[in-house]
Amino acid sequence: MNLIVGPVARGDNFWDRPYILEDLWSNIDSGTHTLLVAPRRVGKTSLMFRLLDEPKKDYIVLYLISESAQNAHTFWEMLFEAFTEDKFIATIEVKAKKIYDKLKTIRINEAGIKGIKFGESDSVDYSKAFKEILKSFDSDKKLVIMMDEFSQTIENIIKHESVQSAEKLLAEHRSLRQDPNIMGKITFIYAGSIGLEGVVSSINAVHSINDISSVKVTPLEQKEAKTFASHLCLESNITIGNDEIKYVLEKIEWHMPFYLQLIVKEIQRLYRRDPIVNIEVIDEAINNALANRQHFEHWENRLHVLSKDKKSFVIEILNIISEHKRLESKEILNIANKYNLDEKVRKEVLHSLVYDGYVNSEIDPKVYRFNSPILRIWWYRNVAN
Ligand SMILES: Nc1ncnc2c1ncn2[C@@H]1O[C@H](COP(=O)(O)OP(=O)(O)OP(=O)(O)O)[C@@H](O)[C@H]1O
Ligand SMILES: [Mg+2]
Repeated sequence: MNLIVGPVARGDNFWDRPYILEDLWSNIDSGTHTLLVAPRRVGKTSLMFRLLDEPKKDYIVLYLISESAQNAHTFWEMLFEAFTEDKFIATIEVKAKKIYDKLKTIRINEAGIKGIKFGESDSVDYSKAFKEILKSFDSDKKLVIMMDEFSQTIENIIKHESVQSAEKLLAEHRSLRQDPNIMGKITFIYAGSIGLEGVVSSINAVHSINDISSVKVTPLEQKEAKTFASHLCLESNITIGNDEIKYVLEKIEWHMPFYLQLIVKEIQRLYRRDPIVNIEVIDEAINNALANRQHFEHWENRLHVLSKDKKSFVIEILNIISEHKRLESKEILNIANKYNLDEKVRKEVLHSLVYDGYVNSEIDPKVYRFNSPILRIWWYRNVAN
């Protein structure tokens, strides 16, 4: 296992997440469609690549990331394109010809090595065309279609195309999932770094995803995190004591593989200069890790999609929590009043802050804290001050 910080963890670099993989396979086996839920950087894409790289015997897996799609037309184009990618075609062998033949009949101008080009966007009923393709997929294996950053796609469509187009895409997907020709043969996994539920509820379309079951990607448990951190140090030729590992875990608190890798990487840098790990070295490593703007900036940038008042509200409460480590609900209410946000909006915004991994109120339902002390310190230094 190499010490990676940032790219998708694949092959030997993937630290096994057996329970989550079991949750996913159990949904797939029972034909249940899944929403893979987790804040940024927790490991959604790495898990999906694990399914792709090591599928169970009777399954073929397709992965699509549609983050860059700004409208429904492009989304469908990307999805059709994924079906004709060599890597995917190779997994279904001779059956591929049928898919190509089918593609030709549905007013697609080009289908082949160069990719897919639809004709006039209005002239294609994408969802119908897609159903046709899936029907022609008569492999004896079942198909798992994973759509990464689907929530981002829906948000893009709302922003750059129209609410109606987003609603239509969601409705088409629901109808795909309920199609008798598809049920039992194909399962969908949707994922995204922003909560799909939040995006969908902003256009009052929660009903369009209420048949999808959530699987949560949780951080590592204490014991698991200890084994992971020790393993990372060992692989990086760092000699570290149990107390020091414990100290690292205490400092990180929210045990995502990503934060552990980030800190161990900084410990490794210091270790090359002086091969000793103590509390001072760990504190310095954490400080150095916090200087990596690119690893944290998205937490701030993400808030720019909010309207002016919601954004001011969120930034004010996060600033306070970053300084005082906690904030009570009644104070949050006062701040919401200041920005004229009614109860519904306040709850919705707070819910998405919890959902997107900024804060939680797990210890006391009336008190909000940052999930990660690392993010709290970064926020305090870079946003609040
Ligand atoms: N199972 C794992 N084994 C090893 N490293 C992991 C694992 N899961 C996550 N990581 C680490 O966390 C980083 C982020 O993982 P990944 O890209 O899978 O997360 P994500 O939830 O898809 O993030 P984003 O929301 O930003 O797309 C990886 O670069 C890797 O360093
Ligand atoms: Mg991802």
